[in-house]
Amino acid sequence: MQHIVIFDSGIGGTSVLAHIQKAFPYACFSYLMDNLYLPYGELASKVLQKRLLQKLKTAEASFKPIDLIVVACNTASTQSLCLLRSHTDIPIVGVVPAIKPAASRTKTKKIGLLATPATTNNDYIQKLIKNHANNIDVHLYSSLNLVALAEQKFWNGSVDEQALHTEIKNLNISKEIDCLVLGCTHFPILSSEILKALNINIELIDSGSAIANRVIDLLPVNADKLLLEEIKKPVRYYATAPISNTKEKVEIIKLIDL
Ligand code: DGL
Repeated sequence: MQHIVIFDSGIGGTSVLAHIQKAFPYACFSYLMDNLYLPYGELASKVLQKRLLQKLKTAEASFKPIDLIVVACNTASTQSLCLLRSHTDIPIVGVVPAIKPAASRTKTKKIGLLATPATTNNDYIQKLIKNHANNIDVHLYSSLNLVALAEQKFWNGSVDEQALHTEIKNLNISKEIDCLVLGCTHFPILSSEILKALNINIELIDSGSAIANRVIDLLPVNADKLLLEEIKKPVRYYATAPISNTKEKVEIIKLIDL
């Protein structure tokens, strides 16, 4: 049975999980959210890297066997993928803001990247822009309030639209861009609200389907095995801090100290 483990600070990774589940409907999924340290987008790099290593070690000890780990968080992936890969043999897929697809889709040659402050300030993003969007005007926008609003929508089923509207207004997103990259996995959860608040003709682009394709490349589907396992299994949710919710059953897990 294929077992895929998903990491994020909170529920942002569920926007990626949804794409992977379409490709692997009968796989087992363990979803580990580190909500004790949410939002990751304001953590110093060293703190975040240590936290991710702790997550890796905890997952290896508690969830084995694991076929693949998806770091479904742009903030974590842009800072820690190499480090995590150097500490395990389990294949790890990360999420990188979809600058490249946006650069090929834009007609105005002006795109935006909306991500957490840790991601927009990361040198990795400058490299990504230099390598894939060199001839494109890339506007950077960062928000942590949207992370909190996405959490609110996921757990409560509704979002404070006024707060979201104010946040989008304060970001002052250029009306000249025609593609906005959602470079934080929390943000696709708010796609319809963001589009409504922006009220301009713009395409929102995220990395969800690209990540699912990468997982397909790395995890060959064994058709014979699948026939025996055609039962959809519920996602097992784990969190590092209590969540008061009735939406999902969430087990509290303490990360291994390093
Ligand atoms: N979902 C995460 C991302 O993709 C991080 C959000 C946060 O905790 O700051 O960047």
